[in-house]
Amino acid sequence: QPRVFSGVQPTGNLHLGNYLGAIANFVPLQDEMPAIYCVVDLHAITAKHDADGLAGVTREVTAAYLAAGIDPAKAIIFNQSQVKEHAELAWIFNCVARMGWLNRMTQFKEKAGKNRENASVGLFAYPTLMAADILAYRATHVPVGDDQKQHLELTRDVAQKFNNDFAERIVELGLGVDNPNPNPELPDQLYFPLTEPIIAGPATRIMSLRDGTKKMSKSDPSDLSRINLKDTAEDIAKKIRKAKTDPEPLPSEMEGLKDRPEAENLVGIFAALSGLSREQVLADFAGQPFSVFKPALADLAVEKLAPITGEMNRLVADPGHIDAVLRDGAERAAAIAEPVLKDVRRICGFLECR
Ligand code: TYM
Repeated sequence: QPRVFSGVQPTGNLHLGNYLGAIANFVPLQDEMPAIYCVVDLHAITAKHDADGLAGVTREVTAAYLAAGIDPAKAIIFNQSQVKEHAELAWIFNCVARMGWLNRMTQFKEKAGKNRENASVGLFAYPTLMAADILAYRATHVPVGDDQKQHLELTRDVAQKFNNDFAERIVELGLGVDNPNPNPELPDQLYFPLTEPIIAGPATRIMSLRDGTKKMSKSDPSDLSRINLKDTAEDIAKKIRKAKTDPEPLPSEMEGLKDRPEAENLVGIFAALSGLSREQVLADFAGQPFSVFKPALADLAVEKLAPITGEMNRLVADPGHIDAVLRDGAERAAAIAEPVLKDVRRICGFLECR
């Protein structure tokens, strides 16, 4: 049964990369299949966190979901810490995943930096919690930005190892579904699906406005490097005006963006915001200097983001409403995850005394 799951961390500033790479893609999927969108607050504590601010940022991400057009009547919206099955399944997956798999995760290496000995165990195990988020709902599709690809490969590896390790019990207990990709090496019946990432569109990897080789990120110390969803129209115009570029005019073909990471990034942002392809954007601006392209991009960005920012601000002013959405979402989420964990406990063989 198809189901979509994705999540955003309540840390720092939500930015254009989070919006175009993830949240904007969540919206149309809610009409295609059952959808669950989580504010992953357990992930937010894997690095040093501000406990006083966490509830507020959690509401802010929820407001961004709603303002972007996710409809709680269709999709489930909740915060991760309120459904205990995430933490429980993550523990079980910690015992399925191998140290070697996690050692290869580039995001851990980047986030831990040189001082790995001092990184939290939670930061190391971040990807197994992410696998638990997805598989507690046996979700089949996960829309994310490009930087999450490796984590989704790990999610498939965890699902596959669990399915293999417990293949016989899954069949004996009658809990499997037919493997959609029959293969003599794999069991005929699976408990967990092998989830497909959805990494699509022209904005899967938005780069910093100050350095086209670095990802736009919540934690970049320079606020000029990113467009925040909370920025005013003036902030947005200023940041685009100051964005790093090269002196050449825009080319007419994609070829001409090679080795011009800043130009390529701005064209990608224009394409994603306008709904045009990058080729169409270049056709419209071929031969134009950045002094023409940047103001057009700033106008477009303000036109698309201002309504979302306005709605976010309006929603954040009414925490009671946001909390009601999250409470209802957590109940609906738990109703799906509880039976899955019940199955998983039986598959693992835990004694349940009656
Ligand atoms: P987070 O909060 O770091 O990022 C949220 C989403 O934004 C995308 N993203 C970007 N997309 C394009 N360009 C960028 N510069 C950019 N920066 C961030 C991310 O790819 C992500 O889709 N680990 C997840 C949170 C998570 C999750 C999950 C996602 C926890 N459990 C289960 C899916 C399924 C993350 O990176 O959050």
